[in-house]
Amino acid sequence: MSSPTIHVYRDAATLAAAAAQHVANLAQTAVAHHGRFALALSGGSTPQALFALLAEPPFANTLPWHAMHIFWGDERLVPPDDPGSNYFHAATLLLSKVPIPPQNVHRVRGEASPTAAAADYAQALRAFTGDQRGWPIFDLVLLGLGSDGHTASLFPGPIPTAETTRPVITVTADYGDRPAQRLTLTPLVFNDARQVTFLVSGAGKAAAVAAVVGPDGAKADPQRWPAARIRPRDGRVTWLLDQDAAARLP
Ligand code: 6PG
Repeated sequence: MSSPTIHVYRDAATLAAAAAQHVANLAQTAVAHHGRFALALSGGSTPQALFALLAEPPFANTLPWHAMHIFWGDERLVPPDDPGSNYFHAATLLLSKVPIPPQNVHRVRGEASPTAAAADYAQALRAFTGDQRGWPIFDLVLLGLGSDGHTASLFPGPIPTAETTRPVITVTADYGDRPAQRLTLTPLVFNDARQVTFLVSGAGKAAAVAAVVGPDGAKADPQRWPAARIRPRDGRVTWLLDQDAAARLP
């Protein structure tokens, strides 16, 4: 994997604007190259400003929505109308406001049991990609970063075998006041992506950013720093940061 590209922006609003242009550029390129754009969204609060921008002109009326397919890198196992649902925020802020075909939105069935939700989502990945790999080569995976170093729903600690053998796993993890029952794509999927972009904002993330992409980032322990498990073989990793999140980088 080539070393990550890092861009730092003045504040969260400027970061969101850069992220929107980044998504737009990749979407246009992917659709022109192979007819569709497979995007895995991150959850949490950071991408919400991005979603709001994509729902407005110029992006709302220039992106190739008809050829875009939306998945989630992780989801909380709650109903889709629950404020704890990553789908809920993406649908409210973006997907309900743009002409994306409903069948192109591949949400996790958070209302189901963990086993059923994982089986259903793994099937959705298989159905979408159609080849024997069993999951798509995402054109873009957006990832966030927790202050504890988690990304998607890959949390610090011993790496479970299932995380290295299956594309979709369920986990239980306490992080803030967020739902603990979660489902996540694993590095098997993330590391097949063409482009992985971390979107990180705020001083609370500065230590974790420095640990993973600072001068010693290449030596970051993947058990302690799950974001270090994300090393796409043929893909590129970009970090879009605001100044607060980048504060501990040299
Ligand atoms: C989730 C996210 C998670 C998130 C980080 C950062 O489902 O919670 O996918 O990985 O990206 O926790 O969250 P914030 O953007 O809210 O800081």
